[in-house]
Order: sequence, then C-alpha cells, then structure tokens
Amino acid sequence: MSAGANIQNGQHDDGETRRGFMQMLAGAFGAVGLGAFLVPAVNSLNPAKDTLALSTVEVDLSDVPVGGSKTVMWQGKPIFIRHRTAEEITEAEDVDVQTLTDKQTDESRVEKPEWLVVVGVCTHLGCIPQGQKTTDNHGEFGGWFCSCHGSQYDTSGRIRKGPAPKNLAVPPYKFVNDTTIKIG
Ligand code: FES
Repeated sequence: MSAGANIQNGQHDDGETRRGFMQMLAGAFGAVGLGAFLVPAVNSLNPAKDTLALSTVEVDLSDVPVGGSKTVMWQGKPIFIRHRTAEEITEAEDVDVQTLTDKQTDESRVEKPEWLVVVGVCTHLGCIPQGQKTTDNHGEFGGWFCSCHGSQYDTSGRIRKGPAPKNLAVPPYKFVNDTTIKIG
C-alpha cells in the first residue's frame, strides 16, 4: 500500500513537475507574444515623422483679402484664419464680456485685430463648424455655425449660442513678418 502510495505520489510529483514546466513555457511564450504585440502597439503611439515635422507651420497671409479666410492644417487640426473687416473687429470688441459663456475679450484672442486665428474644431463634440467660405452659414453672430447641434460663434470665435462650452481655441502663433505667421 505504502509502495503504491509512493508510486502514486511519484507519478503525482512527476505530473506536477511536468505541468509546472509546461506552465512556465506557456508563460514565457505568452510573455514573448505579449511583447511582440506591445512593441508595435507602443510604437504606433509615437508621432510619425511627418506629424512631428508639422509641429510648426508657417502661413503666408498675403493672399487673403480683407473679409476673406484661409484654412491650414496644424497638428492634424484645421486652423481657421480670418482677415477681419473693420466692422467684424468692431462687433467683436464691442461685446460685453460679462454676457459671454466663456468670458474672453477680443483683445486677448488676437495678436493683431485684423487677423483672427483659431482652431476650427467645435468645443462641444468636435465637429468642424461652417463659416470659412463667404457662402457658408455664419450663424447669427457673423462667425461660424456648427450644424451638428447648433453652436454659434462670433467674429472673435467666441461661443455665443448653443451647447458648446468654450470659445474656439486660439493656437500658439506669432507674426514672423507683416504677412506671415508661424503656428506652433
Ligand atoms: S459639435 Fe458643434 S454643436 Fe455639437
């Protein structure tokens, strides 16, 4: 009985040892497999070289007439540039900031009053608002209209009506000369 028990124990021990070895191999291959999966997954999170190259963009404004607009891409986002008319500037400056959802003066949003530069992504759910073409719907406030849920932006890109909680963002930019800006 005791010999049988020992043999059984021996088989049991061998079985345990074999099972443990197989589990170790499976674990090792599993780790290799996971690593093989993770490396491309992590690499895919690194920005592509062409994206890095566009971390700054220089834009020539000389071809944008007063009242006209230009759209450029910066870091995968559309940037709306508006060459504002004197009337659009006055409208933007005359707004009582205390009545705004996102209380920003026009002055704080521009480098030069005649040029408005904003990220063309609605701050509600990220749609691209209309208003870059003269034939577009500019909404009740003369700026941009987001047809997704009806947000309306003024001539300073500030939210004036609808569900969007924030003004169109102003990207970092500076004038490198009178007719060229560098975004980023
Ligand atoms: S995404 Fe613009 S109003 Fe909803």
